[in-house]
Amino acid sequence: MALLEVRGLKKNFTGKNETLHAVKGIDFTIEEGECLGLVGESGCGKSTTANMTARLLKESEGDIFFLGKRINGGKRLCAAGKEMQMVFQNPADSFNPHYSVLECVMQGARYYKLYSKSELKERAMEWIKYVGLKESYLEKKIGELSGGECQRTAIARALICNPALIICDEATSALDVSVQAQVVELIRKLKEEKKVSFLFITHDLALTSSVCDRIAVMYSGRIVEMGETKAILQHPMHPYTQLLLSCVLPAVGDDEYRVPECSSFRGAGDGCDFYEFCPKICTQCKDRVPDLQEREGRMTACFQRGDPDE
Ligand SMILES: Nc1ncnc2c1ncn2[C@@H]1O[C@H](COP(=O)(O)OP(=O)(O)O)[C@@H](O)[C@H]1O
Ligand SMILES: [Mg+2]
Repeated sequence: MALLEVRGLKKNFTGKNETLHAVKGIDFTIEEGECLGLVGESGCGKSTTANMTARLLKESEGDIFFLGKRINGGKRLCAAGKEMQMVFQNPADSFNPHYSVLECVMQGARYYKLYSKSELKERAMEWIKYVGLKESYLEKKIGELSGGECQRTAIARALICNPALIICDEATSALDVSVQAQVVELIRKLKEEKKVSFLFITHDLALTSSVCDRIAVMYSGRIVEMGETKAILQHPMHPYTQLLLSCVLPAVGDDEYRVPECSSFRGAGDGCDFYEFCPKICTQCKDRVPDLQEREGRMTACFQRGDPDE
């Protein structure tokens, strides 16, 4: 069994007048030491998926299996535990700015009572070094750190719990490009050296190429294409992935490239979510939602499963 298996996961947010279908039934797995990228524009349901997986948010439907056990379904929402850690876009928000780097990293394991007092400090110092922060940083206050240093501290805080899976929700999005590359490199090192698995969430498709083994492209609450990163980036099959890729490298100052915004208000039975924007529509698209089906080692949810270069 995979390290993580998500089956038929759905989330509806019910408002006064309408129901928003944020996640409409998604399935994916992550193996040990694998990094799965979850990619899609803002609002497509990535964070909702992450939060349900980490048990910070209750699902409307579906199952989540982690380390061979079903982790949802209990009466109370209960965090997934030390083996599944999360790193967010703005880590500063989840730290007390007056705490030192050392205190913040130790805090990660204190709750789980994993180590004795002296061992806890030793482990924290090891991980702080591993993520690339110098010893002089140990006593620095979080409030004095740069974005990249703060993100390294957040990763060290996750690592001290020896997690099997780390969910990075736009963890590099707020960083400068060069710092972003350093954090991505750290993730790669962790994957290779420590066999940590990652769910790497980003709206930036280009960023997946250096770190993700596979990617799942999400649009309007559904996965529309999933497969090996290289294959998808070189030959995207789904029209939405093709559009997303064409937007990856817009010329500087060129605002012509725009990805159509998804609508989470469309319900099941309204046809393909991408219908209105798709250049390749056929008669079925308006009335039915295409299933995610395998073809040439790739999963795509499109009635037009033709040659990717067509
Ligand atoms: N707590 C909430 N209540 C109501 N709507 C929400 C809530 N959280 C997210 N949404 C909506 O669900 C959709 C998906 O959001 P989100 O998962 O945050 O997307 P992403 O992370 O891909 O940007 C959006 O339309 C968002 O406005
Ligand atoms: Mg998000």
